[in-house]
Amino acid sequence: MDRITLNTPLDMHLHIRDGEMLREVVRYSSRYFSGGLIMPNTIPPITTKEDIFSYRKEILNSIENDIFEPYMSIFFKSSYDSQFLKSVRDDILVVKLYPSGVTTNSDGGVVSVDLDEVGDTLSAMEQLDIPLSIHGETNGSVFEREAEFLPTYELLAKTFPKLRIIMEHISDRRTIELLEKYSNLFATITLHHLAITFDDLLGGALQPHLFCKPIVKSGKDRDALRDLVLNGHPKIMFGSDSAPHPKEKKESSNGSAGIFSAPIVLQGLVELFEKHDKLENLQPFISENARKIYRISPPQKSITLVRKEFQVPTTYGEKIEIVPLFAGKKLNWSLEDV
Ligand code: NCD
Ligand code: ZN
Repeated sequence: MDRITLNTPLDMHLHIRDGEMLREVVRYSSRYFSGGLIMPNTIPPITTKEDIFSYRKEILNSIENDIFEPYMSIFFKSSYDSQFLKSVRDDILVVKLYPSGVTTNSDGGVVSVDLDEVGDTLSAMEQLDIPLSIHGETNGSVFEREAEFLPTYELLAKTFPKLRIIMEHISDRRTIELLEKYSNLFATITLHHLAITFDDLLGGALQPHLFCKPIVKSGKDRDALRDLVLNGHPKIMFGSDSAPHPKEKKESSNGSAGIFSAPIVLQGLVELFEKHDKLENLQPFISENARKIYRISPPQKSITLVRKEFQVPTTYGEKIEIVPLFAGKKLNWSLEDV
């Protein structure tokens, strides 16, 4: 097979920033995806109805004629009450909870994710049927952070059985058991957590462009995640966690966490699924699972990839240099011009 067409691809975890960076990166998503769930960790974060509206407008103004639905989110605050949540319910897909300090621009997040601090807001969200998206890591030792967060996921899943909870960018094989145990737990997985390990990041010369939160883990973790996704697990959606930072902020003595992958994720996914002879399971991962879990009807779009070598550019961007995942590498599949 030399061509593959994907129907209505969705990226359910996407950072596109704002201002100049937004204008540099948004087209790589808006041209090839039908929609994306836009993360709210801008500076300052998205926390009001006005923020949602103006951010959405900025995105729509930047995507020219592309048919692309920016599904909006809002940055969790324990001060959100039922009345406020009701007022934004139709403008957002999720409320995104960041434990304070665990990742880029999360300083205003939740200090301790316990029922005293977040219980009232989560109960209101459950009643209003607004899903909760979580960056599930503690401030503990770097390779243990996701595993250490599992009891919190479990507590929330048990306490709020009707609340849909999305465990974002899962990276650790120990998370899988919990995903299977609670019907209200779902997950996103990135391309990089399916493709690389900490040996790629740290095993030779340090690769700052492979540094992200949660940190990429062992081959066993990667293979366990691959197993789920390649076999079409219905509770898992694709979320790139494409998170652009300027080249100089990544190549720094204080390097930022985040991998910019938006321009190459579709090519990379087709390559991975083909290598394992599981191309038939790419379509649900890239679209149907998210449509069912989030109950959304994104605009229809067909994207064709062709078997033609694609050399990933070493940088993207006109005014800001941004280094992508797989920079300089050759992939077997290219996007057909649209
Ligand atoms: C993301 C970013 O840069 O906004 N960084 C990352 O390493 N993934 C935030 C996030 O999703 O953790
Ligand atoms: Zn993210």
